[in-house]
Amino acid sequence: MTAKYQLYTKKNMHKKKLIDSHGRVIHKLRVQITDACNFRCFYCMPQQAQFTPSQELLSYSEIIDICSNLVDFGIDEMRVSGGEPTLRKDFCDIIRGLSKLPVERLGVTTNGFFLKDILPELKDSKCQHINVSLDSLDQDTFRKITKTEYFDKAFKSIVMAKKMDFHVKVNIVILRGINDHELFDFIKFSAQYGVEVRFLELMKIGPYHKNHSQLFVPAQELIERIEDKELLEPQSVNCDSTSFNFHTSSGAKIGFIASESQPFCGFCSRLRLTATGKLRACIMSEAGMNLRGVNKELYPEILQSVLGMKPTDRIDHIKQPMYQIGG
Ligand code: 5AD
Ligand code: SF4
Repeated sequence: MTAKYQLYTKKNMHKKKLIDSHGRVIHKLRVQITDACNFRCFYCMPQQAQFTPSQELLSYSEIIDICSNLVDFGIDEMRVSGGEPTLRKDFCDIIRGLSKLPVERLGVTTNGFFLKDILPELKDSKCQHINVSLDSLDQDTFRKITKTEYFDKAFKSIVMAKKMDFHVKVNIVILRGINDHELFDFIKFSAQYGVEVRFLELMKIGPYHKNHSQLFVPAQELIERIEDKELLEPQSVNCDSTSFNFHTSSGAKIGFIASESQPFCGFCSRLRLTATGKLRACIMSEAGMNLRGVNKELYPEILQSVLGMKPTDRIDHIKQPMYQIGG
């Protein structure tokens, strides 16, 4: 498989565009800045998880340099992730540094624990798109899933972020028998607070790649349950959107990320940079190439190889857990 570069014709004449041999325009980057997390969501990580020592993580300047180079080759959207990205002491510096790059959109995915305190700093940055993972609205269920007592902190962060006019989305991994009874609580929450909620199918990633069917709920089942009570008005999305979205008759904004039952690999527009500097082609595969310490002149060759590693068909599962991949 080969990749080619094309020049933008209209907007950014100086910028290159990354297009793979299947015509997919690769313009989004997930930037994992740590694999450490202060939550222990049971489907994501074991209680005794091992994290990469902080001295082995990409430094602030390595992150900015690599991302800046990737922007020059066609990346125009970035989302910072972890583990839990806000655990890094230089999280706000990284966001400020990335904000200076010519990207159209900068976002973060967080568990919300530290979020409230850093919202004022984020407000002054380009990072206006905040996805918070909150798998339950109930203290006990939250504890059961995350093995922590931090529900209040996460919840208050979401409310505050919305008040401060950030674009906030709440991501819920739906788990059969554990939080699937909260479907309508989340819909009510969305209508009440004006926050978009997105129901994620559990992916065959990490601890549950084998016993997946035990907890898996297909998006279609959720849609049918909702349609028994509400009208769903489909919303248009970009072709590389991972979610399909609806407004409900009760005033909620909801989305479904059906990565298992309706994979969107054919429209994938993403690359991933791991916390130690590997550029990965796909969430479901460890294949990738190192960018740490690599001279920019070598990027075209590396990008061509990594684009060639992007699968078109969905890889069934990956044993590596999500916190190590970068959500
Ligand atoms: N399937 C789907 N989502 C997952 N996450 C972690 N593990 C899985 C999985 N196996 C989610 C988290 C968070 C995001 C970073 O990834 O719940 O929303
Ligand atoms: Fe942490 Fe997110 Fe994994 Fe939960 S799902 S343990 S918040 S990285």
